[in-house]
Amino acid sequence: MKVLVIGPGGREHAIVRSLLADPNVSEVHAAPGNAGISTLVPTYAIDANDPDAVAALATRLAVDLVVVGPEAPLAAGVSDAVREAGIPVFGPSKAAAQLEASKAFAKDIMAEAGVPTAMARVASNAEEAADALDTFGAPYVVKDDGLAAGKGVVVTNDRDEALAHAQSCFDAGGSVVIEEFLDGPEVSLFVLCDGNTTVALSPAQDFKRIFDNDEGPNTGGMGAYTPLEWAPEGLVDEVLERVAQPTVSQMAHRGTPFVGVLFIGLALTSRGTRVIEFNVRFGDPETQAVLARLKTPLGGLLMAAAKGELAEAQPLRWSRDTAVAVVVAAENYPGTPRTGDRIRGLKKAEALEGVHVIHAGTRLDDDGKVVSAGGRVLAVVALGTDLVEARERAYDGVELIQLEGSQYRTDIGAKAARGAITVAGPAAATKAKS
Ligand code: AMP
Ligand code: GLY
Repeated sequence: MKVLVIGPGGREHAIVRSLLADPNVSEVHAAPGNAGISTLVPTYAIDANDPDAVAALATRLAVDLVVVGPEAPLAAGVSDAVREAGIPVFGPSKAAAQLEASKAFAKDIMAEAGVPTAMARVASNAEEAADALDTFGAPYVVKDDGLAAGKGVVVTNDRDEALAHAQSCFDAGGSVVIEEFLDGPEVSLFVLCDGNTTVALSPAQDFKRIFDNDEGPNTGGMGAYTPLEWAPEGLVDEVLERVAQPTVSQMAHRGTPFVGVLFIGLALTSRGTRVIEFNVRFGDPETQAVLARLKTPLGGLLMAAAKGELAEAQPLRWSRDTAVAVVVAAENYPGTPRTGDRIRGLKKAEALEGVHVIHAGTRLDDDGKVVSAGGRVLAVVALGTDLVEARERAYDGVELIQLEGSQYRTDIGAKAARGAITVAGPAAATKAKS
C-alpha cells in the first residue's frame, strides 16, 4: 500500500512514523512535511490547503490512500477533491469538517444527536455577548466561532476580558459561542469513523495552557500522556455510546457521513461527562503519545476507515507502556514565535532508551541543519513502564535539546503521576484498569 500524508506538523510526523512500521505499507510520501518527516520519506512542497494540488499529487504518485492531518485542508475541501479523483481518503469532507470549523454547527449536531455538552449561546454583537455572559455567570467561556488552532478560546473570571475577546472576534467579522463553564479533568478521545462504524483509540490528556499549573494563554497543546490510569472504568464505552455513535449516525442521516477521526474533547464534570468540543482530525500532540503505544498496524486501520470497512477490523492492540510527549516551543509562543534558530541535541535525545523526537515547526536550512520554523517546534516522546518512568525519560530528552529561547512545561503528566487527579462526577464510582 502506498500512502500520502498531508500536513506539516508533529501529528503528521507521528503518523508517517507509524505508517512506516506497518508491514503492509510499501511507500509513504508527505506534503509539505517538515525537517523530521523529510529524513524519513519523500516530501513535496505543495500548498496542503489547495484541494486540486493535493488531488493532482495523489494521482501523480498513484497512492492507494491519502491521510489528511490538519483541519485547514479538511475545511478547504481537500478530502472531497481526492475522493473525486477516485482515491480513498482518511479525512472528512468539507461538509463534515464543519463539526470543527464551526462551533455553532457542532452545537446543532450535538443537540440533534442528544450529545451531552455545555449549554451555549451564539452572540454576534456586544449586547448579545454581555447578555449571554450574565446568563451563565463566571467563570466565563468565550469561543471564536471559526478555526483558531486551539487559541480562540478565552476562559476567565474577568468579565471585561471575556467581553474584549468577544469584541475582537466581532471586529474580525466573526461571531462567538458563549458557554457555561465545565469543571473537572479533561480527556481527549480519538474515534476512528468510516461513516457508520466507530472504533476508539486509547484516551489521552493534553495540556492546553502555555505555563505550568495551567497558567497563561491557551496553545495548540504543550504535551500529552496516555493511557489515563485515573479514568473511570467504562468511560470509553460510555463516550462511544452517548457521543460518537449518535454523532456519526446524525451526520450520516444528514447526508454528510463522517469518515476520518472524530476527536472528542471531554470534561469529566461533577454532573457527568460533557463534550467540550469536536475536532475532525487527530490531536496534536496527543497523537504523538497515542500512536507510540498502538501495536495494530496503522495503515490498514486508516484504509479500513476510508473504505467503510471498520466493522471488520480486529480489536486494537496496545503496548502496556505509558507514553508521554513534551512539546518544546519557540520563544514567545503562542504569540508570534521566534524562528530560524539552530536546534541541537536531537541525536543525543533519540539515543536515550524509549525516547524519540517528533518534529513540528522545523525545517532544514541551506546547510542542511535543522532550524526552528514554527511555534511548537518539536515533541520529545518517551515510553516507560509507568507514567513516572515515561516522564523521566521524556524530560531527560528535553534537557538534551538546545534551542535558544525555547520553552516547555515541566508538569506534563505530573498530577496524574502523583495520583492527584480526581473525578467528582457520577462516573467516579469505579476506577479503570487500563
Ligand atoms: P476548545 O478550543 O473548545 O477545545 O477549548 C480550548 C480549551 O478551553 C479546552 O481544552 C478547555 O480547557 C477550555 N474550555 C473550552 N470550553 C470550556 C468550557 N465550557 N468550560 C471550561 N473550559 C472550557
Ligand atoms: N491538542 C489539541 C488539539 O490538537 O487541538
